[in-house]
Amino acid sequence: MTLSILEKISLQPYNSLALPAEAEYFCAVNNGADLLTTLEFASARNIAVTPLGGGSNIVLAGNIAGLVLLVDLKGVSHRLVKDTVEVTFAAGENWHKQVQHCLQQGWYGLENLSLIPGNMGAAAIQNIGAYGVELADLFVSLTAIDKLSGEQVVFDKAACEFGYRDSLFKNAGRDRYIITDICLSLSLEPQLNIQYPALQVAFDHHLASGGSITPELVSAMVCQIRSEKLPDPSVIPNAGSFFKNPIIAQTQAAELSLQHPQMPCYQQANGECKVPAGWLIEQCGFKGAVRGPVGVHKRQALVLVNFGAGSGAQLLALAEEVRAAVLERFSIELEIEPRVYG
Ligand code: EPU
Repeated sequence: MTLSILEKISLQPYNSLALPAEAEYFCAVNNGADLLTTLEFASARNIAVTPLGGGSNIVLAGNIAGLVLLVDLKGVSHRLVKDTVEVTFAAGENWHKQVQHCLQQGWYGLENLSLIPGNMGAAAIQNIGAYGVELADLFVSLTAIDKLSGEQVVFDKAACEFGYRDSLFKNAGRDRYIITDICLSLSLEPQLNIQYPALQVAFDHHLASGGSITPELVSAMVCQIRSEKLPDPSVIPNAGSFFKNPIIAQTQAAELSLQHPQMPCYQQANGECKVPAGWLIEQCGFKGAVRGPVGVHKRQALVLVNFGAGSGAQLLALAEEVRAAVLERFSIELEIEPRVYG
């Protein structure tokens, strides 16, 4: 089939917040040759290329100039390395579908990351994490195309500079690379990680009554907890956590803890404290807040939602209102987690 580069395409179906915006040019690619052809198309016209994955971590504040490239590369391969398996996933594979696939194969380690929306490629950009595990814990390497040279580049774990919801691809490498696949190291033996408080609580009763825990059960429990707290984007459009959990200095954490003894605070290795943004936002009275067609989710204040007809500008205005209130009350700056475009 010939490659079709379309003009003026609505991006509403391609972002989980269902925000209205248009791509000047749009193209879906499912193989490496087409990917290079689209890059040549853009280079010849001197227009920007914006890669798009599952669209679950972006805020479209306006139209996107240049070419939006839907990375629809598919395929999974694996090789055994001692008692582990290295699995390479094409960037366009759906994250949760692959978590389930790995569990079925007896490849363990991804269960805590069940039900995270989005695709494999984007998972590396923001180092997705949940319930005590983050992508970096399992990461081996990724392959990307350098937009400047058109060359393929391999990044090992150190080169990706992973941090909390952070990587090279959000900093020095921002807008430069198109990730085409990622490789993760999984275990052939179950490696349970149920230290995260919500998981511990959920399994307390099960363990007390003599039940055993399997990776399949951890995955099912994570799915259940997520479904109870987080809105399904296909029902109430959202982009998951709208803000990062802020990390504050030990001195500020100590002062705030005196004023707010209930404030959850997770001590980091360097003594700093990670505070749940959801708690701060809830304290400022925003849980369940509605501002016309957008709002703050009623069960998890960290998630902003679009009830259907909201715009990126309306959503960002609400985010700013929330940010200002948290700054005023706690002297903590919240940082928006998804990437804002347009
Ligand atoms: N909390 C509140 N009110 C709220 C939300 C949370 O008081 O409205 C409190 C909870 O009671 C708990 C603490 O905040 O004491 C932490 O809550 P939770 O376990 O729900 O996790 P989170 O810190 O709000 C982070 C991730 C989520 C991830 C969960 C579970 C970030 C920005 N978010 O949320 O990631 O699923 O932990 O590990 O780190 C995402 O990135 O889209 C996402 C959903």
